[in-house]
Amino acid sequence: MLIAQLSDPHVRPNGVLYQGVVDSNRGFADAIEHVLTLDARPDLVLITGDLVDEGRPDEYAMVRDILTALPIPYLVIPGNHDDRARLREAFSDHGYLPLRGPLHYCVDDHPVRIIGLDSTVPGQHHGHLDQAGLDWLADTLAQKPDKPTVLMLHHPPLVSGIPYLDEYRYFDESSLRGVVARFGNVEAVLCGHVHRPLVKRWAGTVLCTSPSTATQIDLKFAATAGPSSHDGPRGYLLHSWSDRDGLVSHMVQLGTFAGPYPFA
Ligand SMILES: [Fe+2]
Repeated sequence: MLIAQLSDPHVRPNGVLYQGVVDSNRGFADAIEHVLTLDARPDLVLITGDLVDEGRPDEYAMVRDILTALPIPYLVIPGNHDDRARLREAFSDHGYLPLRGPLHYCVDDHPVRIIGLDSTVPGQHHGHLDQAGLDWLADTLAQKPDKPTVLMLHHPPLVSGIPYLDEYRYFDESSLRGVVARFGNVEAVLCGHVHRPLVKRWAGTVLCTSPSTATQIDLKFAATAGPSSHDGPRGYLLHSWSDRDGLVSHMVQLGTFAGPYPFA
């Protein structure tokens, strides 16, 4: 099974640039186009939050418009730039999304079970799951403790060391870690939010974040560093699952590069 993970497209209304400078709509469309040029077509696409930039209905209309180019089933979770109610409305044909409350769900139609978690806190930029969300996750994981499972949530439960990212990190990661660590079948925890590829051993599994299909957050560690980003390199993650080899995750960078060259 092949799973593409696109993240943080930050789609804007038609003709409007992200941050006034970047064509995030083009970036999202390019990523979808790249997924379709792979020599093995993914079975599923995961979009790990911040589908739009300001939670506006005209942005969600644009997301749906861009996604008409994607002939592969896809699942969405919200990020801090999404509006939960408007996202639900825009994807009302996505039967896996619950009709009320946080958008937690489980899709069990594939060799890998996919659990989507809604880590958003309305009106805030940090991430968190309340006790009801943690209980839902524990119950859902307990239903099939032997089936390979992937969790996805927008906010990675880690400290990146980049000060302006950590301000908006997942708060109280230890309670989430306590739930996930009880299960040995979680193959990976897939996140977005940080607009950078990060990997961490966490809760007995692998936690990884995807680059954004829009801008990439700059890598700076000084406490005084100010927030900044660049228009690239854009990318996405491609997760390959097999019973024999487990989950192997590739980072794909979008762009035009010289080659192909002989390889030996
Ligand atoms: Fe984002």
